[in-house]
Amino acid sequence: MSLRVEHIALAVADLQAAVEHYATVWGIEVEHRERVEDQGVEEAMLPIGGPYLQLLGSTDPESPVGRFLAKRGEGLHHIAYEVDDLEATLADLKAKGVPLIDEAPRVGGRGHMVAFVHPKGNHGLLVELIQRPSGQ
Ligand code: CO
Repeated sequence: MSLRVEHIALAVADLQAAVEHYATVWGIEVEHRERVEDQGVEEAMLPIGGPYLQLLGSTDPESPVGRFLAKRGEGLHHIAYEVDDLEATLADLKAKGVPLIDEAPRVGGRGHMVAFVHPKGNHGLLVELIQRPSGQ
């Protein structure tokens, strides 16, 4: 399995305030911003020297990120690894008994195929697996 860190995601209470904080304090500008309606999130991608920092705001208090923020407040939410073959990676993890949130890839932000791996059975870390569409 070959993994590359694609982004580190931070759940934030106020996305615009977080974007302004990172611009003002750290001098990092947003490269991409997108609402992902079916996930109830709005995400901003900030380049941090290879991988991105993903600032994740909730657009729906009942979404997974909305519930995360209500329960735990702001903080590290997940790490996203880019893989070459998402279907094969999911099949491999499933065969090893790792609980998956998404049994099959689905479309996530930036048109990438994504699937989440449950933090239980993964030492508490929520992992997002990403495969870019070919040619990107
Ligand atoms: Co993500």
